[in-house]
Amino acid sequence: MAKKEAAIDALLSENRVFEPSRDFRSRALWNDPSIYERAAKDPEAFWAEQAASVSWLRKWDRVVEWNPPWVKWFLGGKLNAAYNCLDRHVEDGGGDKVAYYWEGEPGEERVLTYRDVYLEVCRLANGLKSLGVKKGDRVAIYLGMVPELPIAMLACARLGAPHSVVFGGFAASALRDRINDAEAKVLITADGGYRRGQVVPLKQNAEEAIRECPSIRHVVTVRRTGGDHPFTAGRDLWYQDLIAEQPAECPPEPMDAEDLLYILYTSGTTGKPKGIVHTTGGYMVGVATTHRFIFDIHDDDVYWCAADIGWVTGHSYIVYGPLANHATGILYEGAPDWPDKDRLWSIVEKRKATILYTAPTAIRAFMRWGPEYPDKHDLSSLRLLGTVGEPINPEAWVWYWKYIGTERCPIVDTWWQTETGMILITPLPGITALKPGSATRPFPGIEADIYDEHGHTVGPGSGGYLVLKRPWPAMFRTIYKDPERYVQTYFSKYSPDVYLAGDGAKRDDDGYFWLLGRIDDVMNVAGHRISTYEVESALVDNPRVAEAAVVAKSDPEVGQAIVAFVTLKAGQVGDQTVATELREHVAKVIGKIARPHAIIFTDDLPKTRSGKIMRRLLRDVAEGRQLGDVTTLANAEIVEQIRDMASVRTGED
Ligand code: WTA
Repeated sequence: MAKKEAAIDALLSENRVFEPSRDFRSRALWNDPSIYERAAKDPEAFWAEQAASVSWLRKWDRVVEWNPPWVKWFLGGKLNAAYNCLDRHVEDGGGDKVAYYWEGEPGEERVLTYRDVYLEVCRLANGLKSLGVKKGDRVAIYLGMVPELPIAMLACARLGAPHSVVFGGFAASALRDRINDAEAKVLITADGGYRRGQVVPLKQNAEEAIRECPSIRHVVTVRRTGGDHPFTAGRDLWYQDLIAEQPAECPPEPMDAEDLLYILYTSGTTGKPKGIVHTTGGYMVGVATTHRFIFDIHDDDVYWCAADIGWVTGHSYIVYGPLANHATGILYEGAPDWPDKDRLWSIVEKRKATILYTAPTAIRAFMRWGPEYPDKHDLSSLRLLGTVGEPINPEAWVWYWKYIGTERCPIVDTWWQTETGMILITPLPGITALKPGSATRPFPGIEADIYDEHGHTVGPGSGGYLVLKRPWPAMFRTIYKDPERYVQTYFSKYSPDVYLAGDGAKRDDDGYFWLLGRIDDVMNVAGHRISTYEVESALVDNPRVAEAAVVAKSDPEVGQAIVAFVTLKAGQVGDQTVATELREHVAKVIGKIARPHAIIFTDDLPKTRSGKIMRRLLRDVAEGRQLGDVTTLANAEIVEQIRDMASVRTGED
């Protein structure tokens, strides 16, 4: 073990740049660096060329209309996303190719060809139609990682009914708020899902949620785990019964390029989650292009994005991008350490996966478990690796390179967001020399920059705000029912044509981008975005709590861990039992991913004279750092008290 760690240190200390091998480069779809100059010179022509990766029912008239901050792509074009993902491949004789190798956590397997997916999507689309779903109606989807999840999304896309997928790890109230904001008519869920040997009670959560969802007319439940479930006559149906008698033909709805494809909710800095709106034409062109060229997709690849479809990574790079490219993918339902810590590697070996795309948090967990787990399996089929979701520390990068890629596979560190829809900063694996920890350069046609407070570009080595200065096809178009928030959050800091990503970044002397994490009150826990506000609201929702302030503390494994400072109401005692109760309360309200790592009870919170909680100081306390400036505090003495309390933390994981 010590010898192995020394090997990692050696790789790191070399300050090495990792060039693509001659073999990889010669076989890569893109291996000529002039693509960057070509795209920069005429981005519109570049995207017009890429638009040929999509089949249009009616070809577009104009590439882009940029009326900052409002954008439209491929104006006048008509297409259907499900047609692009399925029908055209079947029509071209590619129906027998595997779309997904699925594996359930308990071990069942299903192999679904493009034809299989196509037929079931048509049946479900007809089933949804029979329930009254039509173009423009919103459908909520709350499922685990089962084949019915991409099938449900595509059935909605086929009908032109925007889907709103809610991550299966969210709790009832998070589901309820998302359904209500979207005013979804139908909910598609499952009786349960498997996770680490346990059943996640999806239907039970859904029941609790929809008690307060007046828009829901029908609930369609996939039978997955079995057992008895109370069904409401007229409202509830089993998925399997709904599709059983349906014809396997269903014409795809012709959609305008700018018609809504889906809404996906993500955490913002304040208030309720934001409904990120993606439309059809630009999104399909953006995800198909980036997926093909960043993952260098060849016909014989077996591609595995190990994210959950409930997040944008799954939408763009498990469903729409890969299927548009007629790629073969892997879907796995459960936890990476169930029944043992080599589960992913056993699947890579069994399916001969060639490409693996996962999050730095997962890689840090693999590191902690040790190389003996990947070593048990033949990973020689792998030829390319990727990461997404948070900055990857160079040590984790090098570990991934050495033990998973066995020093042969390029690693694409891809930066993007729910809002951007597609990857924007990334290596191109046949071109880019890699530096561990850097997402390298903007994708061709993308113009990124780093600004200081006043909108001036900062020089190499200095940190600043990451901005994007030109629209890209898959970018979000607005926040659902809240266009003002779209303008305010993303386009008001500098000027309406400059998109503020909310991430800090710096550039090195070679022009490589290094992402530095969020600059707002959004935390990044294990690659999941959670706002401090959401957790605070959940805490004060508990009757014992008077006030709460939440900060993120850096954590070697999950990136950031949630620390909550809590003031209890008079007469309440902050002890271990209450700490546990509050942690569970947050898990119940939002989901386990938001459960605070530590709760610190305090008599008061440090506040400015205008009553604003000084999170900066709390962050210093949480990190054990020397405290910053306290002169603006109304109640300076409280900081010392909090610091003393912090040393007797309660309720840690
Ligand atoms: C972070 C996930 C560093 C970033 C696709 C961003 C990253 C947020 C990277 C978006 C990366 C994502 N390096 N940070 N390669 N990829 N991030 O919306 O803070 O869930 O703003 O989209 O994740 O998270 P979201």
